[in-house]
Amino acid sequence: MQQTNSKKGGTTRWSNRFAYILAATGAAVGLGNIWKFPYITGENGGGAFVLVYLICILLIGIPVMMAEVAIGKYGRRTPGKSTSEVAKASGKPAFWGFVGWMGVISGYLILSFYVVITGWGLAYIFKAGAGDFGNGDPAAVQALFKGLTSNGWALLGWTSLVVLGTVLVIGKGVKAGLERAVSTLMPILFLLLLVLAGYAASEGDFAAALHFMFDPDFSKLTINGVVVALGHSFFTLSLASGIMIMYGAYLPEGVSIAKSSLWIAFFDTLVALIAGMAIYPIVFAHHLAPGAGPGLIFQTLPIAFGQMPGGRLVGVLFFIMLVFAAFTSALALIESSVAWLVEKRGFSRWGAAITAGLGIWLLSLGTIASVAELPIAQFAGTDFFSALDYLTANILLPIGGLAIAVFTGWVANKSLIADMIDAPAVFKSWYPVIKFLAPVAILLVFLQLVGIINL
Ligand code: PHE
Ligand code: NA
Repeated sequence: MQQTNSKKGGTTRWSNRFAYILAATGAAVGLGNIWKFPYITGENGGGAFVLVYLICILLIGIPVMMAEVAIGKYGRRTPGKSTSEVAKASGKPAFWGFVGWMGVISGYLILSFYVVITGWGLAYIFKAGAGDFGNGDPAAVQALFKGLTSNGWALLGWTSLVVLGTVLVIGKGVKAGLERAVSTLMPILFLLLLVLAGYAASEGDFAAALHFMFDPDFSKLTINGVVVALGHSFFTLSLASGIMIMYGAYLPEGVSIAKSSLWIAFFDTLVALIAGMAIYPIVFAHHLAPGAGPGLIFQTLPIAFGQMPGGRLVGVLFFIMLVFAAFTSALALIESSVAWLVEKRGFSRWGAAITAGLGIWLLSLGTIASVAELPIAQFAGTDFFSALDYLTANILLPIGGLAIAVFTGWVANKSLIADMIDAPAVFKSWYPVIKFLAPVAILLVFLQLVGIINL
C-alpha cells in the first residue's frame, strides 16, 4: 500500500507491474480466502456452490476489477474523486462520485467484523504456541474455540490489539517495510497451506473432500447460495470497496489492466481452493460438520496441528501468516476512510487514523457481543454479526459492483475507458460484458432473491 497522493494530483506510482500485482494480491488474499471461503462452501453444500463462485469470479469479478482499475487510472485520486473525474470528463454530473463513495462505506462496515476475526487468529498464535491443541482431539479442539468465543473480555482484548495495530501502521503512513514484509510472508503462507493440504491429503479423507468441493450437486444449491457466491466473489477480490480504484490510481503506464487483473484473481482463487483442500479432508475424516459456520477453520486445522509431527511450530507459523494476510487487508480497508478524513476534513494523518480506528472499535463491539452470544446482539432469527456480514458481502458489495458496471458501461465516455484499458481486442470483448452481462446477471440474482422473478 502507498500513501494517498490526491492532493498533489496523483504522481505516486507502483514501481512496476510486479509491485502492483503483489500489492493488489496482498489486499485480496485475506480472511476471505482462508476463513470465509471454506465455511460458506460448507454452509452451501459444496461443489455446485464452488462452481457458481468460479463463474462469478470469471464473468463478473474480473471484468468489474478491470473497470475499477481503469477508473482509478484515469482519475489518479481517491475513489470518490476518481469516479467524479471520469464523470466530468464524460460530460456527466460530478455526483456520480457516489459510486466510489459507496465502496468506502462498505469497506468500513466490513472492517468492523474483520478485526474481530483477525483477533481470533491472533489468539490462536498463542494457543498454538502453548500447546493448547494437545494431541488434536476434535472435542477438545472444539471446546477450546468455544472457550475463546464465549469470553467477551478476551474477544474485546484481542480485537482491541488488532485495531491498535492497524491505527499504528496506518497513522505512520504505510512504508515500504510493510509492503516488503508482505511480499515475503505471502509466499510462505502459500507454502504452509500447501504443506497442510499435503498433510490433509495423506492423513485425512482427501477423496471425500475432492468430491465435496468439485463434484457439483445442484439439488443442494439455493438462490441464497447463488447470492452468497456472487457476494463472495466481490469480497474476496476486494471489489466495490474503493480499494481497486485506489490501487489503479497508482498504476504505472504500460501495465496491462486485463492481464494483471487475471493474475490477481488467479492467485486469490488458488489460495481459497487450497485452503479448502487443507480443511475438508480433516472435516470428513473426523465426521465434523462442513456447515459449522465461522468457526470452521479454528475447529479443524488445530486437529491437524495437534496430530502432526512438529505441529506446534507449524501451527504458530500458520496463524502468524493468517494474521499477516488479514492485517494487510485490514489496512487496505481502513485506508480510504483515513485518506478521506485528511483530504476533506483537514485531519492530521494521526488524528484521522485514531478517529477512524475509534469508530471501528466501537462498531466491533456489536460483533463481539454477537460472538459472545450476549442477548443484546440477538434479533429475530439472527444476530448483529451475521446480519452485518450478510448485508455487506451479499447486498452492499454486489450493489456497489452493479453501480460500477453501470457507471463504466453507460455513464462514462466509451473512448475514455477504451484508452484506459489500452488493448483494443480485449476492450471489444470486455465492454459488452461490463455494459450488459455483468449488470443483468447481478440484477437477475437480486430479483430472484426478493422473489420478483422465479428462474
Ligand atoms: N479481499 C479480502 C479478503 O478476502 C477482504 C477485503 C474486502 C479486503 C474488501 C479489502 C476490501 O479477505
Ligand atoms: Na480474497
